[in-house]
Amino acid sequence: MSKRVAILISGGGSNMVKLAESMVGDHPARPVLVASNDPQAGGLARAAQMGIATAAVDHRAFKGDRPAFEAALLEKIEAAAPDIICLAGFMRVLTEGFVRRFEGRMINIHPSLLPLYKGLHTHQRALDAGDTQAGCTVHEVTAALDDGPILGQARVPVMAGDTAESLAARVLVQEHALYPAVLRRFASGDRAPLYLP
Ligand code: GRF
Repeated sequence: MSKRVAILISGGGSNMVKLAESMVGDHPARPVLVASNDPQAGGLARAAQMGIATAAVDHRAFKGDRPAFEAALLEKIEAAAPDIICLAGFMRVLTEGFVRRFEGRMINIHPSLLPLYKGLHTHQRALDAGDTQAGCTVHEVTAALDDGPILGQARVPVMAGDTAESLAARVLVQEHALYPAVLRRFASGDRAPLYLP
């Protein structure tokens, strides 16, 4: 029986597209929902074009009442009965209550070599630090932000003259390789960390 995967996005959903495209053939999982906190998220239209059910709950309508927003989002998610949740460019911090509900079956991709640079502006921070390498990490989501067990990492070189934008573009290519590879392992019950290349 395929594992049911819900993917949460906030924007264009390039990682969501790669995850959805990977879940074919003998892959142990299938996408059952793409949900967003932004009804205008471009990824929702891309998911619909791929024939995946979508849902949106506008977090702005809840004016900072995070638990109320999450309750509305949870209703949409539970209706799809997912086994696994993938956060893919999802830009809302989740409460401990939400995380606990899915602990052990919710994963996220973060654009840094964790534990370096938790939070935002990861590429600029790597450049400011003079790092020679950067990359991305897939990890289990726990109550602490960007802090759960690492399931995979991919590294890229920092090049002379890099800007946050050029580095982000180089890392994004690796995100698109790493996240599908980790999801396939995770869905088959393999939590051994994967390191690329
Ligand atoms: C990616 O860099 C991802 O690491 C970060 O959001 C960016 C956009 O992701 N979390 P996507 O194109 O919406 O998947």
